[in-house]
Amino acid sequence: MPEIFLNGRFVAPEQATVSVMDRGFLFGDGVYEVIPAYHGRTLRADEHLDRLDHSLAGIRMANPLARADWAAVFERLLAGIPAPRQAIYVQVTRGAPPVRDHRFGPEAPAPTVLAMAKTVPARDPALAERGIAAIVRDDPRWKRCDLKVVSLVAAVLLQQDAADADALETILVRDGLAVEASTSNLFIVRDGCILTPPKDWRLLPGITRDLVLDLAREASLPFEEADIPAETLSQADEVWITSSTREVMPVTRIDDSTIGDGRPGPVWRHIDGLYQAYKARLAAGATSG
Ligand code: PDD
Repeated sequence: MPEIFLNGRFVAPEQATVSVMDRGFLFGDGVYEVIPAYHGRTLRADEHLDRLDHSLAGIRMANPLARADWAAVFERLLAGIPAPRQAIYVQVTRGAPPVRDHRFGPEAPAPTVLAMAKTVPARDPALAERGIAAIVRDDPRWKRCDLKVVSLVAAVLLQQDAADADALETILVRDGLAVEASTSNLFIVRDGCILTPPKDWRLLPGITRDLVLDLAREASLPFEEADIPAETLSQADEVWITSSTREVMPVTRIDDSTIGDGRPGPVWRHIDGLYQAYKARLAAGATSG
């Protein structure tokens, strides 16, 4: 039976309940993380916990657990569901006060702290061979997209828009620039150079994104952090999205346009090979993540 970590205790799923007064439930007032793991070994857990600190600070909360305590929680959750691919979900909300009030000061209640793990199915090789379809929408989100907040109704609607169009992701455009996608970061390849937008308030600072740039750097592949005008998307040689659960996924159709020759390109193949090798080293204990 998989356990769930809730407010300092490991409990069975049916015992993992929170109050209807919880501010996460009433206001979406909280933050989260999704941390991939392979054979029980987390990928870049420190970077995920740094981002959790950044998100918490951004909503004026403190991290309720020390890093070593988070690590111990992750280890126990992953040991409970052994599998080649796993993911940990962490959520911290501003707790359950006695009355509903937008304001949380001067004394916020104790936070609600949740962590749980699940197994993730192996990537469908046919999907990676084909590439996915994406649609493009104006970005309806707020001006702190660098925070991983649980108020996700915009992403929910954007994902559903994609599904309704037989696509798997929605690329978001703000002020004429393609910034990221509804649940992933965005890369393009133009004239052999890998491009991804610079990190700022318009996008989530993706851990997979940074790993891809590290792999490109190590392999001496040319890359640049630069704005991507939306109108250049369809002329890109390659388009990819990255996330902890999707890894590096090629996009071969955007709205009605075919990207490149309609198949995943050579630079994606190179980077994906490096990413898969990195995962294999991690799973074998040959790198610390
Ligand atoms: N999504 N941008 C957004 C808006 C995201 O929600 C995500 C991740 C990313 C990629 O970040 P990372 O590489 O650190 O996973 C970019 C997660 C997986 C989710 O919401 O489930």
